[in-house]
This record gives sequence, C-alpha cells and structure tokens, in this order.
Amino acid sequence: MRTVVLPGSFDPFTLGHLDLVRRAARIADHVIVAVSHNPSKRGALTVTQRLDVIEQTLAAEGLTAQASARALPSGLLVDFCREVGAQTVVRGLRSQLDLAYEEPMARMNDHLAEVDTLFLLTSAQYAHISSSLVREVHALGGDVADMLPPASAHALGPCPRPTGEDAS
Ligand code: PNS
Repeated sequence: MRTVVLPGSFDPFTLGHLDLVRRAARIADHVIVAVSHNPSKRGALTVTQRLDVIEQTLAAEGLTAQASARALPSGLLVDFCREVGAQTVVRGLRSQLDLAYEEPMARMNDHLAEVDTLFLLTSAQYAHISSSLVREVHALGGDVADMLPPASAHALGPCPRPTGEDAS
C-alpha cells in the first residue's frame, strides 16, 4: 500500500488544499494530511480545530477511505514518514516562489531519509489562495467563504471586523 504524507499548517484548510488531497488520492492508496504546529506563527485555529475541519471535510467529500488527518509531532517530517510507512511527501506549488521555498526542504528530506517530494502544480483557480492571505482578508473583514470548504469557513467564524467599520 502506497501511503503519502501531505504536510502543512492548514491554518485554515482551503479549497486549494482539498484539491491537492483529491489529486494525491488518485496517485496514492492513502493520503495522510499531517497538520503541523508552528509556535512562531500566530494562528487562526488550533491544531485540534484544524484536524476537526479536515476530518469533517474529508467525510463531506467522501474521501475518508482514501485520506485521513494526523497531527504532525514536533520533530523531523522524515521520522513521521517512517512511522506511518510513507516514502513520499506531497506538496503543492502555486508559483516559482513556492518552489524556491520547497526545494531545500525536499533536498534535505531526501538527504536525511531518501524521502521523495512529489510536487503538484496548484490548479489555476486556486493559485492565488494561501492560508496566510485568507487569514488576513478574514481579519480585515473580507469574505473568504468561497475559498474554503464549509467546515473551514464555519471554524473561522464571522468576520471579526466587518468591511468599512472603523475599530477606532
Ligand atoms: O504549510 P507550511 O507551514 O509551509 O508547512 C511547512 C512544513 C510543515 C512542511 C515544514 O515546516 C516541515 O516539513 N516541518 C517539519 C520539520 C522538519 O522536518 N524540518 C527539517 C527538514 S526540511
């Protein structure tokens, strides 16, 4: 059984991420969506909330046989890959900027444990969507619902500051 790991912060899990899960599931027998916790990043959702969102989304999309969600323990990604029996990491590429960020990590994971990284080019309709921009738009009162699966939009909640309303 070929298992692949799709790691990321997923804060929040977007339609671009869901598209990657679907496409990775066409290549592998099982996709583990591994949710990382980065204490230096100010997040919108807790890891537990992100896992709930991903599990609800996989269920809603009929993907539970092909994909599952796990918290990524602190430590090396390659150690997690070994633990779950995966030899391949999947990452999405929206642009050449993403490749510049990804290339050293992919080479390091290969060096450490011969874990390959399979890059999927982000589908064009999602190429402008990143979790960080979604968080920013949402925090400034913009509507992000059409960039997210329903469970993700629900977890983020209503805009904290509706457009046009001055906090001062
Ligand atoms: O969505 P993100 O925040 O860009 O995901 C980054 C992630 C989780 C893929 C990256 O931080 C990672 O691989 N973390 C595991 C730590 C690790 O193994 N580092 C050394 C090898 S690159």
